[in-house]
Amino acid sequence: MSKIAVLVSGGGSNMQQLIKNGIKLDCIIADRKCGAEKIAKENNIDFFQFERKGISDKVFELLEKRKIDLVVLAGFLSILDGKILQKYKNKIINIHPSLLPKYGGFGMHGMRVHQEVFKNSEKESGCTVHYVNEEVDAGAIIEQERVNISSAKSAEEIQKMVLEKEWILLPRVVKKLIEK
Ligand code: GRF
Repeated sequence: MSKIAVLVSGGGSNMQQLIKNGIKLDCIIADRKCGAEKIAKENNIDFFQFERKGISDKVFELLEKRKIDLVVLAGFLSILDGKILQKYKNKIINIHPSLLPKYGGFGMHGMRVHQEVFKNSEKESGCTVHYVNEEVDAGAIIEQERVNISSAKSAEEIQKMVLEKEWILLPRVVKKLIEK
């Protein structure tokens, strides 16, 4: 059975959807104090928090120790670099709240993405699950979900519409990858 680690920085709603969909998580790793810790506790999942400085190597050691097969970045804001990217090539995936390659790259995360999308009066947005490599948000795309946002009156509304799609897309992709 595949052992999955989830990396988070925020509320952890995407991570919670994995749990709700019956996907067993080996551990949850955070780079700051965040809501995901409570979800980990409630679900009896091992939780680790590392400071951001040097986090890639600390995460790498933990993955090795626990023999992790798949790493899911679900709202994780630190940038991974160094040997973890080579050793876990095609084993680290990320969910991004836009239709990549649009609205991706360094600094494009969370509400910033939706604000840009709103400013540009886009009619469609969505979310993307992709492999993680050295370039921010530029690894191979695995799957996307699209959503019509022509009725959206604010960036917040777009965020809500996209997040609902994320909750469908991420469990679907993770299930597919671990069944392979
Ligand atoms: C999501 O929009 C995700 O795409 C982005 O950060 C947000 C995290 O939300 N990378 P949550 O912590 O899963 O609720």
